[in-house]
Order: sequence, then C-alpha cells, then structure tokens
Amino acid sequence: MLSRFNVKNYGFHPHELFPTLYKLFPIPYLYTMRIDIISVVPELMHSPFAGSIMKRAQEAGLAEVHFHNLRDYTTNTYKQVDDYPYGGGAGMVLMVAPIDKCISQLKAEREYDAVIYMTPDGNVLNQGMANALSLFQNIIVLCGHYKGVDQRVRDMFVTHEISIGDYVLSGGELAAAVLCDSLIRLIPGVLGNETSALTDSFQDGLLAPPVYTRPADYKGHSVPDILTSGNTPKVENWREEQALKITKQKRPDLLG
Ligand code: 6GU
Repeated sequence: MLSRFNVKNYGFHPHELFPTLYKLFPIPYLYTMRIDIISVVPELMHSPFAGSIMKRAQEAGLAEVHFHNLRDYTTNTYKQVDDYPYGGGAGMVLMVAPIDKCISQLKAEREYDAVIYMTPDGNVLNQGMANALSLFQNIIVLCGHYKGVDQRVRDMFVTHEISIGDYVLSGGELAAAVLCDSLIRLIPGVLGNETSALTDSFQDGLLAPPVYTRPADYKGHSVPDILTSGNTPKVENWREEQALKITKQKRPDLLG
C-alpha cells in the first residue's frame, strides 16, 4: 500500500533521511552542484535561472550554473557550429569538433559525474531520475538543436540521454532548464523545511492533496472542516486519503 511516507525506490540525501543528525552535523556546501550547460542559444535559458528557487540556490552557493556558447568553441574562421547531414536530408547537424573542444576543456578542469544530452529520443525524465541525478556534483548538460548532434558526440562523450516528454521542442534548451530546476530544488538546503521536496507530488509516488489558505469561506466556497480543526493527525490522515483518491482519479498508472 502506498502512503505519503513510502519513499522506497528513490535516492535521498542524508538531510532528507536523517534530518536530526544533519541538523547536528551540517556539512556545508558538501552538496554544491556545478552544472555546465552547452548550447548554441544559451540566452534562451537565462531567465529561468534568474528568479525564484534556482536564483536563491545559486546565491546561497548550493548550485553553480555556467553557460557555454558553442560558437565560442568553433575551430574555423566562420564560427560554424553546424553542417549538412551526410547522406542528405533536411536540417542541420551540430558538428563534433566544437562540442569536443568545449567538453574536453571542461573535463581538463574537473571530473564530471555525467554528460547529459537533452534529446527527444532520450529516457523520459521522472522524479526517480531527478532524485538520482541530484546526487551528482558536477554535470555537463548538452543541448541539441536543429536535427541534433553528430552521432559521434553521443558515442564519445554522452553518459545519459534525457527527454522531458513525448513531444518535440525546437531545441534542448527549455528541456535543460526543466531538468536543472528538478535537480536544483533537491539539493539539501535549497528548500526550507516548510517547502520540503518530500511532500511534492510524485516524491512518494502519489499526487499532492489539495491545499487551501485564508479566507475559510470565499463566496460560499468553504475550506474542508478538518483543515481548520487543529487536529494534526486527522489532517495528515485526510491528506493521505485525498492524495490516494486524486491519484486514483487522475493518474491510476502511478499506482501500478
Ligand atoms: Cl530534451 N529536446 C527536444 N528538442 N525536444 C524535446 C525534448 C528534448 N524533450 C521533449 N521534447
């Protein structure tokens, strides 16, 4: 039976598993995550990282995000990053040389735990993958564009291929921002206790229960009595029931 506190099958940080111990022995910056994002249009990603939780995580030194414009790593005078596909066909392909130059330069500076290629034919991102990837310290995220990258980039450098769903985007940039958001919010210290990632939808395999705030009555639409009763165990019980009910209704596939 699934419950909101059933967390099996997912990787967790020590502070999530042992909050009391972690409070006594906080290990600051142990989990700082460095993300290097490689793209031909990095400006597409600036604003998602410039506000809210992703901004705060960077200001607190818990996440470091570095953008690399592939055009700065070109090896010819035309700053060419793409070329026609061998064998013909529509669209352009990102060349191997600039990507090699960028990744090799980064790898010379530090070790990387993963080189992730954002592509619609990758593994579809879910919370379990986000939990696992959030344990990494240094990752490279490569954004595809046009028809994608030369296959040799994937063969030579890429360790993980990730998609964010079964639809096509113009490039991997927005998908990379989505992936990074899902990882950064899991870094210990990024979310406060009051917004703990543990109570998110999906974190326990269930969708989140409904939430309400003041006023208790709005134009005749009132808040469920149990939430204003002050009875915490009953409230928790109600939330579990609601989570299960909503998951059954909207996403029965999650209940297996
Ligand atoms: Cl990662 N890239 C592109 N271009 N389209 C996508 C995607 C990625 N994930 C879903 N659609």
